Amino acid sequence: MTRANVQSRCRGCGTVVDANVDFGFACPNRGDGDVEHILVPTWSPDIWDRGEGDNPFVRFRDVLTAYQMARVLGLADEDYVELATQLNEAIARVDGSGFSITPLARCADLEASLGLDTPVWVKNETGNVSGSHKARHLAAVMLLLLVVERAGSPLAQGLRDRRLAIASCGNAALAAAVVARAADWPIDVFIPVDAGAAVVARLTELGANLVICERDPSETGDPCVISFRRAVCDGSLPFSVQGPDNAISVEGGLTLGCEFVAGLNAVNESLDSVIVQVGGGALASSLYGAFARIHSLGDIPNIPRLYTVQTQGAYPLQRAMERVQAHHADASAHQIVSTVSQHRSDYMWPWEDTPSSVAHGILDDETYDWLALIEGMVSTSGEALVVSEARLHEANVLGRRDSGIRACHTGTSGLAGLIELLALGRNPGRTGVIFSGIHRQDS
Ligand SMILES: Cc1ncc(COP(=O)(O)O)c(C=O)c1O
Repeated sequence: MTRANVQSRCRGCGTVVDANVDFGFACPNRGDGDVEHILVPTWSPDIWDRGEGDNPFVRFRDVLTAYQMARVLGLADEDYVELATQLNEAIARVDGSGFSITPLARCADLEASLGLDTPVWVKNETGNVSGSHKARHLAAVMLLLLVVERAGSPLAQGLRDRRLAIASCGNAALAAAVVARAADWPIDVFIPVDAGAAVVARLTELGANLVICERDPSETGDPCVISFRRAVCDGSLPFSVQGPDNAISVEGGLTLGCEFVAGLNAVNESLDSVIVQVGGGALASSLYGAFARIHSLGDIPNIPRLYTVQTQGAYPLQRAMERVQAHHADASAHQIVSTVSQHRSDYMWPWEDTPSSVAHGILDDETYDWLALIEGMVSTSGEALVVSEARLHEANVLGRRDSGIRACHTGTSGLAGLIELLALGRNPGRTGVIFSGIHRQDS
């Protein structure tokens, strides 16, 4: 069905944004009050899986704003498919291979090692574009830009003069630089002084402009994020993997959830629980979003219980969840989100210490996409888990050995959550985890 318009609404202030007027990246009132401003779509797809093809941005196009906007702007279905295919081919030229449906497999050896008689399903993102799931988030944003450009929408005016910007020195930066290069779009990557040499070398090779951000003692918060936000205020496009900065990037992760469900449905299986590592929170929130959308379309029997995993180094989401449970024990997920979104700083604030962990991809000092995760955990009776360094090591050794997947510690930290639950004497049933990133020399 072709839509008349594609809108999103801010969960905090209720402002409605039309993607035809303002892309729908961030709420225009962001920063006002003690409110969590984050845009979520007002529309839901009629279908989520076209059932064929190997490019997730084609197969699951109906869940993406880029596709819905293409149709609103008068592009034909084939036009969108052509754009998505061309972008994928360009990504393959830059990075060796483009997006394709990533492997999903039941891991019998892991089940045996853990003493489980229930399935553990592992979705392997280590062979995805640039070695992690992150490029999914950014491809969704890039596709929207390309759609607007191809359709000649008023938003396209001067669009190519606006540089992309991202604050990251890890998988997100690498993914952003690959997608930007594939689209031949200039990008500024805001990195800390101690960014890893291998990442810096690859970003340079990909033609990204690196902006090194030193900590200013007079400012609180991550200096890279501060510089990134300044650049966006000055006109750069937020090529961010965090929902409040760019809600469209969360959509890219929906493709991962759709793949997960499509893979399970194909073998008549489903999940009781999904255990996901959380840094900024976009990965888990998009996964939960996919399960929730597909459930509302009647194509899965239940939304799996959502367990999130953070490290003892920093656990701002678990801290928020504890407060939610202390103050809103009997409220519904909807009531909780309405209330806590109006009192952000009572629940979410930057982690006070500089954290460290072997799973450094999930050390974000704030969980930017916390609201969706609180909703997901409350509505599915899930839980925010915190795991030790020993547990992260154990999961990585076991996960790599039993699956044969060369994942990094961040990549196997969802599995660390499963081991933690079992150690607490609890079995989450049929479980899904994501091995989200490849082990690199310096990861
Ligand atoms: C490999 C990997 N997995 C998971 C995450 C966490 O994703 P998110 O920040 O969306 O919670 C990251 C973040 O950098 C990552 O690099």
